[in-house]
Amino acid sequence: MGSLSEGWTLYNAGGRHRVVVTRQLPGRRWLEILSGAGCAVEVYSRDEHLGAEEIVAAIDGRCDGCIGQLTELWGEAQFAALKAAGGSAYCNYAVGHDNVDIESATSHGIAVGNTPGVLTETTAEMAVSLTFAAARRVAEGDAFMRRGLFRGWLPDLLLGELLWRKTLGVIGVGRVGAAYARMMVEGQKMDLVYYDVVRNEALEECIAGYGSYLASRGERPVSCRRADTVVELLREADVVSLHACLDESTRHLIDASLLGQMKQSAVLVNTSRGPLIDEEALVAHCRANPGFKAGLDVFEDEPDMKPGLSELENVVLVPHLGSATTWTREGMAVLASLNVAGVLLGYPAWPHDDMRPFLVGRPPEACPSILNASRLGISTLNDR
Ligand code: DGY
Repeated sequence: MGSLSEGWTLYNAGGRHRVVVTRQLPGRRWLEILSGAGCAVEVYSRDEHLGAEEIVAAIDGRCDGCIGQLTELWGEAQFAALKAAGGSAYCNYAVGHDNVDIESATSHGIAVGNTPGVLTETTAEMAVSLTFAAARRVAEGDAFMRRGLFRGWLPDLLLGELLWRKTLGVIGVGRVGAAYARMMVEGQKMDLVYYDVVRNEALEECIAGYGSYLASRGERPVSCRRADTVVELLREADVVSLHACLDESTRHLIDASLLGQMKQSAVLVNTSRGPLIDEEALVAHCRANPGFKAGLDVFEDEPDMKPGLSELENVVLVPHLGSATTWTREGMAVLASLNVAGVLLGYPAWPHDDMRPFLVGRPPEACPSILNASRLGISTLNDR
C-alpha cells in the first residue's frame, strides 16, 4: 500500500484487504465490521465530493472493495479500475442505484451492493412531512413569523388544504411508497389510488383490513385502487407522491402536460429522484397556479435548482434529507460495510427483505443486499 494522499484517513493499517470509502460515514460499527474482516480502510475525510477521475486515482494500485456515494458516477472507468486493482466488491451508500452502471460492474465480475430496508419508514416520514408542510403552508408560516409579520390571528391568514378523507395518489408502491401510503391512509383516512407496474397485494390487503376496521366502528371505510395509467391517478388525487426508481422510463414522468392533468389545488411530493419531474415545467406550473403546492426533497440537477424554484412560495424545499436520521444513516453504513466484507469473505447473499438481523448483535454470515448476485453466480444463504 502506498502513502496516503491528502484528505484521506487510514484505519486498521495492517489489514490484508484494501477498502476505499469515498466519504466519512456515520457511526463506528461499519469500521469495526470492515476491520474485523481484515480490511485496511481508507476514507476520504474532506467535506467535498470526489470527481470521477479522483475516484479512479483513489482505487489505483491494489484495491479489494469500495463504498461510494449516490452523488458519484460509478461506471465503466471506475469498475475497470477496480477490477485492474484486484477488486471484487462495490457498495453504494444508498438504496437507489441510478448512479451505478451495474452492467459494467457485472462485466468486470464486481458485486454491487446497496442498503435497503433501513430507509423505508424514515423516507416515508419525510414524504409525510413534506405533504403536510406543503398542504398547510408551514414554510410560508415560518418565514412570516421570522419576518415579524404576525399581527394576530386572522380568519383568512395562510389558508391551506385539509387532507382528511381526501384522495391520495402514490406512484410506485415499493417499500417506501407503501409505507407512505399506509401512514397517510391510516392516519388521515384517505382513499388510495396507486400506480405501479406490479400490483401490491400486501398493501391492498392492509388497506382492506383497515377499511373493515373502520366499518366495524360505523365509519366509512377507506378504499384502495390500482390505476391503469398515471394520468388517471393524477386527475383523481388531491395529493400525489412519487416513489418510483429513476430510469429512462421514469425520467420526466411528470412533465408540463401531466402537471396540467392534476387538480389545481393538488399537492405534489417527491422524495425519490429529482429527474422524475421536469423541474422547469414545475416552476412554470406553480407560478401559474398559486393554489398548487409541491414538497421537494430531490432536484433534477442536484445540488442546483432550476431558475425560479426557490422564489416560489407554494413550494417547500429540503436538501435530499429523506433518509437523514442517525439510526438510518448508521444502519446504511453497517449494511454497506457488511456487503463489502461479505463479498471479500466469500459469504452468500441474504435471501430476505428484513435487514434487522444485521443491525444488532452478531450479524448473519451473509451479504445483506447484492444487486447482481445471481448474475455473478453468488449463492444465497438458503442454498448452502
Ligand atoms: C437513497 O438511499 O437512495 C436515498 O436517496 C438516500 O437518501
